[in-house]
Amino acid sequence: MSGTGAVPGNGAEQAGSLPAGRESGLVGKQVAGYRVEAEIGRGGMAVVYRARDLRLDRTVALKLLAPELARNDTFRRRFAHESRVAAAIDHPHIVPVFEAGETEGVLYIAMRYVPGLDLRALLDRQGGALAPAVAGRIAVQVASALDAAHAHDLVHRDVKPGNILVAEGTDRDHPEHVYLTDFGLTKKSLSLTGFTTVGQFVGTLDYVAPEQISGKPVDGRCDVYSLACVVFETLAGVPPFRRDDDMALLWAHQYDPPPPLSEERAGLPAAADAVMAKALAKTPEERYGTCLEFVAELRAALEGGVPGAGARAVAGGTAGGTPSPPPEPPEPPEWARPVFLER
Ligand SMILES: Nc1ncnc2c1ncn2[C@@H]1O[C@H](COP(=O)(O)OP(=O)(O)OP(=O)(O)O)[C@@H](O)[C@H]1O
Ligand SMILES: [Mg+2]
Repeated sequence: MSGTGAVPGNGAEQAGSLPAGRESGLVGKQVAGYRVEAEIGRGGMAVVYRARDLRLDRTVALKLLAPELARNDTFRRRFAHESRVAAAIDHPHIVPVFEAGETEGVLYIAMRYVPGLDLRALLDRQGGALAPAVAGRIAVQVASALDAAHAHDLVHRDVKPGNILVAEGTDRDHPEHVYLTDFGLTKKSLSLTGFTTVGQFVGTLDYVAPEQISGKPVDGRCDVYSLACVVFETLAGVPPFRRDDDMALLWAHQYDPPPPLSEERAGLPAAADAVMAKALAKTPEERYGTCLEFVAELRAALEGGVPGAGARAVAGGTAGGTPSPPPEPPEPPEWARPVFLER
């Protein structure tokens, strides 16, 4: 694991600077019309709780941001603007925001509670890579969410496994339902050195685009880069760049070519290497124009590499006379099974 901040729960040691933690006993208390029920998780800048919306009597995820962010005018302005834009996007793969506001000097967001795991936890539980079919299903859902955001001129800026929530899907064909969360809520925009002015760690640098590092203006193509880093990790079990310290990691994002995916995980087709290299290009102009374009090419490359898939198609096409009914599709192999087991 490179990028020291990628470890889940790395915010524990920062509890003193967060709005509330296990220690402060917020559970059972009321915050802006929500009764806090349990802590779900915490990152570098916020604590997320499961809470009860007392007005509508429903469960929500309530995110309380660290108080020093509320004191930062740039962040406040951005928070207000981007919460409004994110709430305006109605998309099946974007976590719906119910309310964003401020109470007693703390910025908060109430959003849909997504039962399940975030992709960071899923990868850690899995002990590395996901099956290519699962990785592809997750990637396409995140890609569609990002492209929808880009169509609203909203750049996510912090696409990473911790911001991708994986819930149980609707049926056998859609075994996982993936939500993207935390639009524009990155502290990296305030300081990319890894620390804020109060010396708090920002988070992982495993997925940050070269133009974000160099402080150039960003557009949706920085999300293409970050998504490619995430997808690389879901397929290879490790992100594209791993270095001993953050400076070396930032350098690698800017100047080092990414390693071929097929070298990181044996058995992946070499055709996927070129797709990944394009998505991870150092300059935005050289990348895919949209996230869905990237993921479609990647999935085609991955599927094209499955032995036997082409052979079946040829056999069906050359049979003369009355075509026989197509054979039943075989049971999916172990690696293509859904990450959620049917009950
Ligand atoms: N809407 C939600 N429903 C259920 N769980 C959520 C929801 N939003 C966030 N979580 C959980 O809370 C955890 C903490 O979220 P948070 O955004 O504070 O941290 P992070 O994304 O891991 O790190 P960072 O602070 O760097 O963004 C997430 O990883 C996720 O597991
Ligand atoms: Mg987050």
